[in-house]
Amino acid sequence: MSVAGVDRVAVVGTGTIGASWAAHYLAHGLDVTATDPAPGAEDRLRADVAAHWPVLERLGLSERASQDRLSFTADPSDAVADADFVQENGPERENVKHDLYAALDAAARPDVVLASSSSGLLPTAIARGCPHHPERLVIGHPFNPPHLIPLVEVVPGERTSAETVDRAMDFYAAVGKRPIRLRQELPGHVANRLQAALWQEAFSLVERGVASVSDVDIAISQGPGLRWAVLGPFLNLHLSGGHGGIAHMLEHLGPPMEEWWRDLGQVTLTPELVQELAAGVDEELAGTDVAELIARRDVVLDALLAAKDETGLA
Ligand SMILES: NC(=O)c1ccc[n+]([C@@H]2O[C@H](COP(=O)([O-])OP(=O)(O)OC[C@H]3O[C@@H](n4cnc5c(N)ncnc54)[C@H](O)[C@@H]3O)[C@@H](O)[C@H]2O)c1
Repeated sequence: MSVAGVDRVAVVGTGTIGASWAAHYLAHGLDVTATDPAPGAEDRLRADVAAHWPVLERLGLSERASQDRLSFTADPSDAVADADFVQENGPERENVKHDLYAALDAAARPDVVLASSSSGLLPTAIARGCPHHPERLVIGHPFNPPHLIPLVEVVPGERTSAETVDRAMDFYAAVGKRPIRLRQELPGHVANRLQAALWQEAFSLVERGVASVSDVDIAISQGPGLRWAVLGPFLNLHLSGGHGGIAHMLEHLGPPMEEWWRDLGQVTLTPELVQELAAGVDEELAGTDVAELIARRDVVLDALLAAKDETGLA
Protein backbone atom coordinates (compact mmCIF):
# COMPACT_ATOMS: atom_id res chain seq x y z
CA MET A 1 0.00 0.00 0.00
CA SER A 2 1.63 3.24 -1.00
CA VAL A 3 0.80 6.70 0.35
CA ALA A 4 1.08 9.34 -2.42
CA GLY A 5 3.48 7.01 -4.23
CA VAL A 6 5.59 6.33 -1.13
CA ASP A 7 6.04 2.87 0.44
CA ARG A 8 9.31 3.37 2.27
CA VAL A 9 10.57 6.49 4.04
CA ALA A 10 14.18 6.93 5.13
CA VAL A 11 14.43 8.82 8.43
CA VAL A 12 17.94 10.25 8.66
CA GLY A 13 18.92 11.34 12.18
CA THR A 14 16.79 9.84 14.95
CA GLY A 15 16.95 12.38 17.79
CA THR A 16 13.83 14.12 19.11
CA ILE A 17 12.37 14.97 15.70
CA GLY A 18 13.55 11.92 13.73
CA ALA A 19 12.09 9.49 16.30
CA SER A 20 8.75 11.29 16.26
CA TRP A 21 8.65 11.33 12.42
CA ALA A 22 9.54 7.62 12.37
CA ALA A 23 6.62 6.84 14.71
CA HIS A 24 4.28 8.98 12.59
CA TYR A 25 5.22 7.28 9.31
CA LEU A 26 4.99 3.80 10.87
CA ALA A 27 1.53 4.69 12.20
CA HIS A 28 0.50 5.48 8.62
CA GLY A 29 1.48 1.98 7.52
CA LEU A 30 4.74 2.94 5.82
CA ASP A 31 8.02 1.06 5.97
CA VAL A 32 10.72 3.13 7.66
CA THR A 33 14.47 2.73 7.38
CA ALA A 34 16.21 4.86 9.98
CA THR A 35 19.83 5.85 10.34
CA ASP A 36 21.89 7.71 12.97
CA PRO A 37 25.61 7.44 13.76
CA ALA A 38 25.28 7.86 17.55
CA PRO A 39 26.13 4.83 19.71
CA GLY A 40 22.93 3.22 21.02
CA ALA A 41 20.77 5.13 18.52
CA GLU A 42 18.77 2.11 17.38
CA ASP A 43 17.77 1.10 20.92
CA ARG A 44 16.81 4.70 21.77
CA LEU A 45 14.78 5.01 18.57
CA ARG A 46 12.86 1.77 19.19
CA ALA A 47 12.15 2.88 22.78
CA ASP A 48 10.98 6.34 21.60
CA VAL A 49 8.71 4.85 18.93
CA ALA A 50 7.22 2.47 21.52
CA ALA A 51 6.64 5.44 23.86
CA HIS A 52 4.82 7.40 21.09
CA TRP A 53 2.73 4.39 20.00
CA PRO A 54 -0.14 4.58 22.58
CA VAL A 55 -1.13 8.10 21.53
CA LEU A 56 -0.86 7.10 17.86
CA GLU A 57 -3.13 4.13 18.59
CA ARG A 58 -5.65 6.50 20.19
CA LEU A 59 -5.49 8.74 17.11
CA GLY A 60 -6.05 5.70 14.86
CA LEU A 61 -3.44 3.54 13.17
CA SER A 62 -3.53 2.60 9.47
CA GLU A 63 -4.34 -0.99 8.71
CA ARG A 64 -0.72 -1.85 7.90
CA ALA A 65 0.77 0.13 10.78
CA SER A 66 3.38 -1.80 12.73
CA GLN A 67 6.51 -1.04 14.71
CA ASP A 68 7.95 -4.14 12.98
CA ARG A 69 8.15 -2.14 9.75
CA LEU A 70 11.05 -0.19 11.29
CA SER A 71 14.54 -1.16 10.23
CA PHE A 72 17.82 0.52 11.16
CA THR A 73 21.24 0.89 9.57
CA ALA A 74 24.18 2.98 10.69
CA ASP A 75 25.00 3.80 7.06
CA PRO A 76 22.99 6.75 5.61
CA SER A 77 23.67 5.61 2.02
CA ASP A 78 22.09 2.22 2.77
CA ALA A 79 19.16 3.89 4.50
CA VAL A 80 18.15 5.95 1.46
CA ALA A 81 19.08 3.46 -1.29
CA ASP A 82 15.57 1.98 -1.56
CA ALA A 83 13.57 4.84 -0.01
CA ASP A 84 10.75 6.64 -1.85
CA PHE A 85 10.95 9.74 0.37
CA VAL A 86 13.74 10.97 2.66
CA GLN A 87 13.10 12.95 5.87
CA GLU A 88 16.39 14.33 7.19
CA ASN A 89 16.67 15.32 10.87
CA GLY A 90 20.39 15.67 11.50
CA PRO A 91 22.01 18.41 13.59
CA GLU A 92 21.08 22.01 12.69
CA ARG A 93 24.52 22.92 11.36
CA GLU A 94 25.10 23.80 7.72
CA ASN A 95 28.45 22.00 7.41
CA VAL A 96 27.04 18.79 8.93
CA LYS A 97 24.04 18.94 6.59
CA HIS A 98 26.39 19.46 3.59
CA ASP A 99 28.40 16.31 4.38
CA LEU A 100 25.24 14.37 5.00
CA TYR A 101 23.50 15.51 1.79
CA ALA A 102 26.55 14.62 -0.29
CA ALA A 103 25.96 10.99 0.78
CA LEU A 104 22.14 11.13 0.51
CA ASP A 105 22.23 12.78 -2.94
CA ALA A 106 24.65 10.15 -4.26
CA ALA A 107 22.71 7.17 -2.87
CA ALA A 108 19.01 8.03 -3.25
CA ARG A 109 17.24 7.49 -6.60
CA PRO A 110 17.28 10.80 -8.54
CA ASP A 111 13.46 11.12 -8.40
CA VAL A 112 13.30 10.81 -4.60
CA VAL A 113 12.46 13.95 -2.59
CA LEU A 114 15.03 14.86 0.07
CA ALA A 115 13.11 16.81 2.73
CA SER A 116 14.98 18.51 5.56
CA SER A 117 13.32 19.11 8.92
CA SER A 118 15.63 22.11 9.45
CA SER A 119 14.07 24.69 11.76
CA GLY A 120 15.62 27.66 10.08
CA LEU A 121 18.40 26.97 7.56
CA LEU A 122 17.80 28.14 4.00
CA PRO A 123 17.12 25.32 1.52
CA THR A 124 19.38 27.04 -1.03
CA ALA A 125 22.25 26.83 1.48
CA ILE A 126 21.56 23.16 2.34
CA ALA A 127 21.32 22.30 -1.38
CA ARG A 128 24.98 23.32 -1.81
CA GLY A 129 25.65 19.87 -0.33
CA CYS A 130 23.68 18.24 -3.16
CA PRO A 131 25.85 18.33 -6.29
CA HIS A 132 23.81 15.86 -8.37
CA HIS A 133 20.14 16.69 -7.92
CA PRO A 134 19.61 19.91 -5.93
CA GLU A 135 16.17 20.21 -7.57
CA ARG A 136 14.81 17.45 -5.27
CA LEU A 137 15.83 19.16 -2.02
CA VAL A 138 13.12 20.99 -0.07
CA ILE A 139 12.50 21.95 3.54
CA GLY A 140 9.75 19.92 5.22
CA HIS A 141 9.78 21.61 8.61
CA PRO A 142 7.57 20.02 11.28
CA PHE A 143 6.68 21.21 14.75
CA ASN A 144 7.65 19.25 17.79
CA PRO A 145 6.30 16.61 18.24
CA PRO A 146 5.69 15.87 14.52
CA HIS A 147 3.55 12.82 15.32
CA LEU A 148 0.98 15.17 16.94
CA ILE A 149 1.33 18.70 15.53
CA PRO A 150 -0.17 18.91 12.02
CA LEU A 151 1.82 21.84 10.56
CA VAL A 152 4.64 21.20 8.08
CA GLU A 153 6.28 24.15 6.32
CA VAL A 154 7.35 23.24 2.80
CA VAL A 155 10.02 25.68 1.64
CA PRO A 156 11.66 25.57 -1.79
CA GLY A 157 15.15 26.92 -2.42
CA GLU A 158 16.40 28.64 -5.56
CA ARG A 159 17.00 25.33 -7.32
CA THR A 160 14.07 23.29 -5.97
CA SER A 161 11.73 22.15 -8.75
CA ALA A 162 8.00 22.86 -8.65
CA GLU A 163 7.44 19.11 -8.96
CA THR A 164 9.43 18.47 -5.76
CA VAL A 165 7.31 20.99 -3.87
CA ASP A 166 4.07 19.45 -5.22
CA ARG A 167 5.20 15.94 -4.29
CA ALA A 168 6.22 16.98 -0.77
CA MET A 169 2.89 18.83 -0.28
CA ASP A 170 0.93 15.78 -1.53
CA PHE A 171 2.88 13.32 0.60
CA TYR A 172 2.56 15.33 3.83
CA ALA A 173 -1.17 15.84 3.25
CA ALA A 174 -1.58 12.10 2.58
CA VAL A 175 0.01 11.25 5.96
CA GLY A 176 -2.37 13.56 7.80
CA LYS A 177 -0.25 16.71 8.04
CA ARG A 178 -1.33 20.31 7.28
CA PRO A 179 1.45 21.47 4.95
CA ILE A 180 1.82 25.11 3.94
CA ARG A 181 3.87 26.17 0.92
CA LEU A 182 6.16 29.16 1.48
CA ARG A 183 6.74 31.43 -1.49
CA GLN A 184 10.12 32.65 -0.30
CA GLU A 185 12.92 31.20 1.83
CA LEU A 186 13.81 33.13 4.98
CA PRO A 187 15.85 32.16 8.07
CA GLY A 188 13.38 30.52 10.48
CA HIS A 189 10.69 30.07 7.77
CA VAL A 190 7.31 31.46 8.93
CA ALA A 191 6.15 29.79 12.15
CA ASN A 192 9.48 30.04 13.97
CA ARG A 193 9.74 33.72 13.02
CA LEU A 194 6.29 34.29 14.50
CA GLN A 195 7.36 32.46 17.66
CA ALA A 196 10.64 34.42 17.74
CA ALA A 197 8.70 37.70 17.68
CA LEU A 198 6.66 36.59 20.70
CA TRP A 199 9.68 35.22 22.56
CA GLN A 200 11.60 38.45 22.00
CA GLU A 201 8.90 40.45 23.76
CA ALA A 202 8.44 37.77 26.48
CA PHE A 203 12.17 37.90 27.28
CA SER A 204 12.14 41.69 27.17
CA LEU A 205 9.20 41.94 29.60
CA VAL A 206 11.12 39.78 32.10
CA GLU A 207 14.35 41.73 31.51
CA ARG A 208 12.53 45.02 32.07
CA GLY A 209 11.05 43.63 35.30
CA VAL A 210 7.48 44.09 34.02
CA ALA A 211 6.37 40.53 34.82
CA SER A 212 7.81 37.30 36.20
CA VAL A 213 8.61 34.27 34.01
CA SER A 214 5.55 32.43 35.33
CA ASP A 215 3.23 35.43 34.84
CA VAL A 216 4.36 35.76 31.20
CA ASP A 217 3.64 32.04 30.75
CA ILE A 218 0.17 32.51 32.30
CA ALA A 219 -0.44 35.58 30.10
CA ILE A 220 -0.17 33.35 27.03
CA SER A 221 -1.32 29.89 28.16
CA GLN A 222 -4.40 31.18 30.07
CA GLY A 223 -5.03 34.06 27.66
CA PRO A 224 -4.60 34.59 23.93
CA GLY A 225 -2.76 31.27 23.49
CA LEU A 226 -6.08 29.46 24.00
CA ARG A 227 -7.59 31.26 20.99
CA TRP A 228 -4.44 30.95 18.87
CA ALA A 229 -4.65 27.16 19.10
CA VAL A 230 -8.10 27.43 17.49
CA LEU A 231 -7.65 30.16 14.87
CA GLY A 232 -4.66 32.11 13.59
CA PRO A 233 -3.80 35.78 14.27
CA PHE A 234 -5.77 37.21 11.34
CA LEU A 235 -9.03 35.34 11.94
CA ASN A 236 -8.79 36.09 15.67
CA LEU A 237 -8.47 39.77 14.86
CA HIS A 238 -11.38 39.53 12.44
CA LEU A 239 -13.61 37.94 15.10
CA SER A 240 -12.56 40.59 17.65
CA GLY A 241 -13.84 43.27 15.28
CA GLY A 242 -17.49 42.22 15.60
CA HIS A 243 -19.66 43.08 12.57
CA GLY A 244 -16.93 45.32 11.13
CA GLY A 245 -14.38 42.50 11.24
CA ILE A 246 -10.67 43.05 10.77
CA ALA A 247 -11.13 46.33 8.86
CA HIS A 248 -13.01 47.91 11.78
CA MET A 249 -10.57 46.40 14.29
CA LEU A 250 -7.55 47.88 12.54
CA GLU A 251 -9.20 51.26 12.17
CA HIS A 252 -9.92 51.33 15.87
CA LEU A 253 -6.98 49.37 17.40
CA GLY A 254 -4.44 49.83 14.58
CA PRO A 255 -3.00 53.21 15.69
CA PRO A 256 -2.37 52.14 19.32
CA MET A 257 -0.96 48.81 18.07
CA GLU A 258 1.53 50.75 15.92
CA GLU A 259 2.60 52.62 19.07
CA TRP A 260 3.10 49.30 20.92
CA TRP A 261 5.20 48.01 18.01
CA ARG A 262 7.54 50.97 18.40
CA ASP A 263 7.91 50.20 22.11
CA LEU A 264 8.65 46.44 21.72
CA GLY A 265 11.93 45.31 23.30
CA GLN A 266 15.09 44.33 21.48
CA VAL A 267 16.81 41.63 23.51
CA THR A 268 20.37 40.40 23.79
CA LEU A 269 20.73 36.97 25.33
CA THR A 270 23.29 37.93 27.96
CA PRO A 271 24.40 35.20 30.42
CA GLU A 272 22.58 37.18 33.17
CA LEU A 273 19.28 37.13 31.25
CA VAL A 274 19.61 33.41 30.45
CA GLN A 275 20.25 32.75 34.15
CA GLU A 276 17.24 34.84 35.16
CA LEU A 277 14.97 32.99 32.70
CA ALA A 278 16.25 29.57 33.80
CA ALA A 279 15.78 30.46 37.48
CA GLY A 280 12.24 31.71 36.68
CA VAL A 281 11.39 28.43 34.95
CA ASP A 282 12.74 26.41 37.91
CA GLU A 283 10.59 28.47 40.24
CA GLU A 284 7.53 28.01 38.01
CA LEU A 285 8.07 24.23 37.80
CA ALA A 286 8.50 23.96 41.59
CA GLY A 287 9.85 20.43 41.28
CA THR A 288 7.30 19.20 38.69
CA ASP A 289 8.65 16.19 36.81
CA VAL A 290 9.33 17.34 33.23
CA ALA A 291 8.60 13.93 31.65
CA GLU A 292 5.25 13.95 33.41
CA LEU A 293 4.58 17.51 32.21
CA ILE A 294 5.30 16.43 28.61
CA ALA A 295 2.88 13.50 29.00
CA ARG A 296 0.15 15.82 30.38
CA ARG A 297 0.80 18.36 27.60
CA ASP A 298 0.39 15.59 25.01
CA VAL A 299 -2.92 14.47 26.55
CA VAL A 300 -4.25 18.03 26.17
CA LEU A 301 -2.86 18.34 22.63
CA ASP A 302 -4.47 15.05 21.72
CA ALA A 303 -7.88 16.19 23.08
CA LEU A 304 -7.53 19.59 21.39
CA LEU A 305 -6.75 18.02 18.02
CA ALA A 306 -9.74 15.69 18.40
CA ALA A 307 -12.01 18.64 19.31
CA LYS A 308 -10.75 20.66 16.32
CA ASP A 309 -11.41 17.68 14.09
CA GLU A 310 -14.94 17.16 15.43
CA THR A 311 -15.88 20.82 15.03
CA GLY A 312 -14.40 21.13 11.54
CA LEU A 313 -11.71 23.55 12.77
CA ALA A 314 -8.86 21.18 11.91
N1 LIG B 1 13.66 20.00 18.42
C1 LIG B 1 12.74 20.71 17.80
O1 LIG B 1 11.83 21.30 18.42
C2 LIG B 1 12.73 20.80 16.29
C3 LIG B 1 11.51 21.11 15.66
C4 LIG B 1 11.46 21.09 14.26
C5 LIG B 1 12.59 20.83 13.51
N2 LIG B 1 13.78 20.57 14.15
C6 LIG B 1 14.94 20.28 13.29
O2 LIG B 1 15.11 18.87 13.24
C7 LIG B 1 16.51 18.57 13.11
C8 LIG B 1 16.90 17.66 14.26
O3 LIG B 1 16.65 18.31 15.48
P1 LIG B 1 16.47 17.49 16.85
O4 LIG B 1 15.88 18.44 17.82
O5 LIG B 1 15.81 16.19 16.60
O6 LIG B 1 18.01 17.26 17.25
P2 LIG B 1 18.64 16.07 18.09
O7 LIG B 1 19.94 16.57 18.60
O8 LIG B 1 17.65 15.52 19.07
O9 LIG B 1 18.90 14.94 16.98
C9 LIG B 1 19.86 15.05 15.99
C10 LIG B 1 20.28 13.64 15.65
O10 LIG B 1 21.15 13.67 14.52
C11 LIG B 1 22.11 12.66 14.72
N3 LIG B 1 23.25 12.89 13.81
C12 LIG B 1 24.43 13.49 14.06
N4 LIG B 1 25.20 13.46 12.95
C13 LIG B 1 24.46 12.82 12.00
C14 LIG B 1 24.72 12.42 10.68
N5 LIG B 1 25.87 12.73 10.08
N6 LIG B 1 23.76 11.73 10.01
C15 LIG B 1 22.58 11.44 10.60
N7 LIG B 1 22.29 11.77 11.86
C16 LIG B 1 23.22 12.45 12.54
C17 LIG B 1 22.46 12.73 16.19
O11 LIG B 1 23.09 11.53 16.63
C18 LIG B 1 21.07 12.96 16.79
O12 LIG B 1 20.45 11.72 17.11
C19 LIG B 1 17.26 19.90 13.10
O13 LIG B 1 17.50 20.31 11.78
C20 LIG B 1 16.26 20.84 13.78
O14 LIG B 1 16.40 22.18 13.36
C21 LIG B 1 13.87 20.51 15.51
